[in-house]
Amino acid sequence: MSSEQAVKDIVTSVENTTLAGEAAEQIVDPWNVQGAIVDGKQLGIDYDRLIEAFGTRKIDEATLERLETLTGRKPHPLLRRGIFFSHRELNRILDRYEQKKPFYLYTGRGPSSDSMHMGHMIPFLFCQYLQEVFDCPLVVQLTDDEKFLFKQNLKLEECIQFSRQNAKDIIACGFNPDKTFIFSNLQHVGGAFYHNVVRISRCITYSQSKSTFGFNDSDNVGKSHFVSIQAAPSFSNTFPAIFGDRSDIPCLIPCAIDQDPYFRLTRDVAHKLKYPKPALIHAKFFPALQGPGTKMSASVDSSAIFMTDTAAQIKNKINRHAFSGGGATLELHREHGGNPDEDIPFQYLSFFLDDDEEIAALDKAYRAGTLSTGDLKKRCIEVLQKFVGDFQARKAAVTDEILDHYMTPRSMGVDLSAK
Ligand code: TYM
Repeated sequence: MSSEQAVKDIVTSVENTTLAGEAAEQIVDPWNVQGAIVDGKQLGIDYDRLIEAFGTRKIDEATLERLETLTGRKPHPLLRRGIFFSHRELNRILDRYEQKKPFYLYTGRGPSSDSMHMGHMIPFLFCQYLQEVFDCPLVVQLTDDEKFLFKQNLKLEECIQFSRQNAKDIIACGFNPDKTFIFSNLQHVGGAFYHNVVRISRCITYSQSKSTFGFNDSDNVGKSHFVSIQAAPSFSNTFPAIFGDRSDIPCLIPCAIDQDPYFRLTRDVAHKLKYPKPALIHAKFFPALQGPGTKMSASVDSSAIFMTDTAAQIKNKINRHAFSGGGATLELHREHGGNPDEDIPFQYLSFFLDDDEEIAALDKAYRAGTLSTGDLKKRCIEVLQKFVGDFQARKAAVTDEILDHYMTPRSMGVDLSAK
């Protein structure tokens, strides 16, 4: 399908679901992200409602101040802008940092295609910052088994191949080579890892998995078991090369909020197995080109800017497809101003432009109508082209030898005598 046709399909499907007067609840799970539909209009995601529905905590000013005091560094722009907005027991990890007790970071990626998109960068960029300030180990799970179970059209060999390609993308985010272990489930799971998988799966009933993830009787059995495999890296004795037989070293999991259901179950299981519960820190979604009501998604090709896109493709996608919150005509825009909260180029800048003052100035000028939609798009294109260009240069430098190093289980110099 051509990308134009795909965009038309999305537009039609959005139109079809937004008949005047129609209403629908917002949906956020590991497979679907849709804002509510009210009176036929698709809204952005209501993140305060998600905090309430999921039972997480909002990241407040006091937590940001504590982080700054402890690390001696200004919080990352993704924290300052409220993009990482929610957590579970982050303070427990900060306590350990203060007490100089070990902990680690855990995140992951389901490799469903050759290339990651800009939305996938968010948790990884943030993890890179956390690893740098905490100087701690990071484990990255590539769930090639998950993609095989959930996407009927993929061959096992393809999933393994995507894992290696995606690992290069992840390495290009700048992780510490001495303290980062990236693994493919299909290649690595066995031994101590598998011991935890079966311990976990015995604690989760079929009905819990079904109700957490919405499976039905025609879903394959692998899907309902998969949560045990995504849960296992939350426990330190899953990685004997790094943590020996210590099962009491906790982790912090950065991810977008769609992954939270996995870790709600994991936290229940931790209690039963007498392991520490994983702490979490959640991100909002990097929105689709079509607007803030859905996330950028690899399965909707035209919603995404891929990390393999050329400068010309980025320019074209932003100019032609990015949803604008500007006035309908230049005159109306000058008169009434635009709405940055709905404007995709502005949203993208708020994720990828570090300069707080420039963001504030763009926001002000856009609302006032003195900054045009065209000029805002131009700035967005420049920033994204630079980010993707620099990324591609770093990725090109990742050889197979470097990849093998990151993917080999090894000691990371954690002091295992520190309780
Ligand atoms: P996957 O591959 O769907 O997504 C990888 C990570 O990227 C986040 N993400 C986004 N963040 C912001 N904006 C978006 N548009 C966007 N799309 C995806 C996801 O939340 C995730 O953090 N089952 C997982 C793999 C996994 C994992 C984990 C993820 C295994 N263990 C631990 C996080 C933490 C998956 O398929 O992710």
